[in-house]
Amino acid sequence: MRLLIAGIGLIGARHLAHAQAMEGIDVVGVIDPVLQQTDFPHFAAIEQVKVEADAIVIATPSHLHADHAEAAAARGWHMLIEKPVAHDMEAAVRITRAADAASVQTLVGHHRRHHARVAELKAMLEAGAIGTPILASMIWAMRKPDGYFEGNWRSGSDGSPVMINLVHEVDLLRHLFGEVTGVAGFGSNAQRGAARVESGAVALAFEGGMTASIAFADSALSPWGFEAGTGENPNIGTTGEDYLRITGRDGSVGFPSLTVWGGVPDWSQPAVPQLPKKTAPNVPLVAQLEHFADVVAGCSAPLVSAADATQTLRVTLQIEAAVAPRSEAAA
Ligand SMILES: NC(=O)c1ccc[n+]([C@@H]2O[C@H](COP(=O)([O-])OP(=O)(O)OC[C@H]3O[C@@H](n4cnc5c(N)ncnc54)[C@H](O)[C@@H]3O)[C@@H](O)[C@H]2O)c1
Repeated sequence: MRLLIAGIGLIGARHLAHAQAMEGIDVVGVIDPVLQQTDFPHFAAIEQVKVEADAIVIATPSHLHADHAEAAAARGWHMLIEKPVAHDMEAAVRITRAADAASVQTLVGHHRRHHARVAELKAMLEAGAIGTPILASMIWAMRKPDGYFEGNWRSGSDGSPVMINLVHEVDLLRHLFGEVTGVAGFGSNAQRGAARVESGAVALAFEGGMTASIAFADSALSPWGFEAGTGENPNIGTTGEDYLRITGRDGSVGFPSLTVWGGVPDWSQPAVPQLPKKTAPNVPLVAQLEHFADVVAGCSAPLVSAADATQTLRVTLQIEAAVAPRSEAAA
């Protein structure tokens, strides 16, 4: 796969490092207006690319995804677009429309779906390890350093943890339990007082009667979060603690430990814990690039197309509206 990477920032640099090390991927150019030094052919804008390519990673700021996807589709490049697929629904629809018109594939960077432990959890649920899922309860609470918000695009409402972090959780829950049919929530900005939500509680309803809750904060120190539990992100400390509990008719499971509680008929006896044998961990960003190469080669359908990710965006935007702190909602 002859690959371009647009946006060599926080996540684009990680894609570049992985792509460089992978057999079968030839990085033919990088695109970024502020990049100083690189070993690759460098272009300041997508429109200026002068090399032949099969595909592009779009890791530019989210509000530029639709413009960049349209430019990529016009050149016939398949695209891996970072999450969220776009910043609003109109832009997300533009992406699918442009890709369909150009007959190119889209894959969206909800890389958790490529995590080996997530695949195991999904397989366990589908095999009936806990019976019909009834409830899920998640807590994602991380204290982000003050510098994360200072002097950059995250200082205002764009720094909300809903679009940055919860979008991953929403996609994970949709991946496990299907479409969301209802959203409610409360949010707060009581600690930092900035013009964005920083903590809150969300309730989700799924088709089929399953419900889930997400308690979230980017202002609280805790051992609970996907990244902390799985060790997936090199920039976030690892605790190995479960942050997601799923209960079903016949038992329950914690993630990422995959501890299953069950073996008893009802509340008259204590549920018994069982720890299944787990497969070796993988690097989801690498697994995602491998999958992207298969999609580009025509061997696989995208695990998360732009149309699919648009549904994750829809729910995430509904959460953002539901948890907007009162002062922000009134403004
Ligand atoms: N999958 C994940 O876990 C994950 C993690 C972080 C960010 N993201 C997503 O990746 C995207 C980028 O986020 P980031 O944190 O890396 O941002 P960033 O600000 O660190 O990097 C963005 C880069 O894009 C470049 N850029 C800006 N305009 C451009 C243009 N017109 N053409 C080419 N390059 C341009 C900037 O110079 C910068 O280097 C966002 O959509 C974000 O939501 C995903």
